[in-house]
Amino acid sequence: MEISKIFENNRAWVDEKLKTNKKYFEDLSKGQNPEILYIGCADSRVTAEDLMGVSPGEAFIHRNIANMVPNTDLSAMSVINYAVTHLKVNHVVVCGHYYCGGVKAAMQSADLGILNPWLRNIRDVYRIHRHELDAITDEGKKYNRLVELNVQEQCVNVIKTSDVQRAYRERKLQVHGWVFDVHSGLLIDLEINFNNILQNIMEIYRLD
Ligand code: CO
Repeated sequence: MEISKIFENNRAWVDEKLKTNKKYFEDLSKGQNPEILYIGCADSRVTAEDLMGVSPGEAFIHRNIANMVPNTDLSAMSVINYAVTHLKVNHVVVCGHYYCGGVKAAMQSADLGILNPWLRNIRDVYRIHRHELDAITDEGKKYNRLVELNVQEQCVNVIKTSDVQRAYRERKLQVHGWVFDVHSGLLIDLEINFNNILQNIMEIYRLD
C-alpha cells in the first residue's frame, strides 16, 4: 500500500464521519470513557476494533507480540494501571489468536536474538502446562492449545496486579480470556473468569 493512499483514506474517513455527525471529532476531543481494556497480539490480521465492532472511544487497546502481560513489563503494567485505575474500565480482555507467529516461534528452538526473552514468557507457559501439551500428538492441536493456555496465563498475570484486584473488590471488574480464530473470523470465549480459574489463584497473589 502506498503511504499517500493512507492520507486519502483518512480524509475520506473524516468526511464519512462528519456526514453522520458534524460534531463527531469535536465530541471525541472532549475525552475518553472506554468500558473495555483489550490486550491483544500485534499481528496485522488481528485488528482489535474491527473484530469487536467497537468505535473510537469504546476500547482502550494494548497490543504486543503474542498478547503478553509480563509481570515486569513497564508498558503493559502502565496500560493496566491507567485503564483500570484512572479510566475505570469494567472489563479487561486478553485476546489471543490461532496462527500466532509469536506462539509458533516459542514452540521452536531457533535463536531469535532480542526476541528470546520475550518468547521465553511463552515457553514458561508451555512448562507450566507441559503434561497437558505433551499429551497432544497432533502438532496443530498442540499449537492451538498453547495459544489458549497462553491467554489463560496472561489473564492470571492481569489479576496479579493490585489495580485489578482493587477494581474487582470495588466494582466487580471482570477479566476475560478470548481467542480470535483467523480462519473463521470468530471470537471464542475461553470462559476464564473469576468464578472458575481466577478465584483460586487469587489466594496466592492477593494484595490487600
Ligand atoms: Co500473534
